[in-house]
Amino acid sequence: MVNGKVLNNIIATQSVHENYGGVVPELASRAHQQNIVPVVDQALKNAAIDKNELSAISFTRGPGLLGALLVGTSFAKSMALALDIPLIEVNHMQAHILAHFIEDPQPEFPFLCLTVSGGHTQIVLVESHLKMKVIGETKDDAVGEAFDKSAKLLGLPYPGGPLIDKYAQQGNPDRFSFPETSMPGLSYSFSGIKTGILYFLRDELKKNDQFINENLNDICASIQQTLVGMLLQKLRKAARKHNIKQIAIAGGVSANSGLRKTLAEMAKSEGWTTYVPDFQYCTDNAGMIGIAGHYKYLAGEFVDQKVSALPRMKF
Ligand code: KG4
Ligand code: ZN
Repeated sequence: MVNGKVLNNIIATQSVHENYGGVVPELASRAHQQNIVPVVDQALKNAAIDKNELSAISFTRGPGLLGALLVGTSFAKSMALALDIPLIEVNHMQAHILAHFIEDPQPEFPFLCLTVSGGHTQIVLVESHLKMKVIGETKDDAVGEAFDKSAKLLGLPYPGGPLIDKYAQQGNPDRFSFPETSMPGLSYSFSGIKTGILYFLRDELKKNDQFINENLNDICASIQQTLVGMLLQKLRKAARKHNIKQIAIAGGVSANSGLRKTLAEMAKSEGWTTYVPDFQYCTDNAGMIGIAGHYKYLAGEFVDQKVSALPRMKF
């Protein structure tokens, strides 16, 4: 990353979790350990930069899985110490939002960001690059988890979110409906819907054991429409309440085609200007940690060698 421009955004995907129906923490940290040196080496090579030219190291302090965070934190601390350059801690969720500043067009402040990932579902009021406030969030599961767990019930491998998206594109979203949990204010709840889908599938499979195979596209389209509807209904409520028409989405689930399409329709009727990151900057990536580091570097926000990983980091 140089002057706010990403030189290289290398991603090491961990396929080891596919057969387990979710991320296995121990396997995740082991894979981080194996990948971190070759990935950093390759990123420097691709960017044609020598490590001695670096002016700071930014790293994810949290939130996330402790084992994986520890690998990154220790590596970043050692590298900053060895090169005698500043160390910058980054909040993973804040970085998802700042991914909007990697490429143009960039949102104008203040804007609302719906941050939707495997671990979080938040509506964030963004006042400046580094001043952000969570104004609504889930009280239980994240929406990415709801996608992945529904996919698991359908027998799809982890992470199932992108597969639900794929099958949904061929399906009828109005075919089935699932009971939604209504929550006060700007709060979300996604655990009820998962149970609703479980019971729905159990009942249908009793009648026809081929129910999933025969109706996969329609089931996926209906699940996706329900989840997207829940997300956008609260986002609209937040936008009206705060009288903000600059709206962004971020995080892994912002790659979802149903969410993008319905957001565009809502933007028309609400008069919003919307911002959707490039696909490579939706799911977890190093570019977003780099851009967050860039703004913190400009603000002089550095941390010392005593810093440790923070699995439940807030902002
Ligand atoms: O932000 P992210 O890469 O990692 C976390 O910080 O959690 O988000 C991963 C989540 C997973 O739950 C994955 O299934 C979901 O994002 N996801 C999608 C799509 N692409 C990724 N969910 C629905 N549709 C997609 N196209
Ligand atoms: Zn993420």
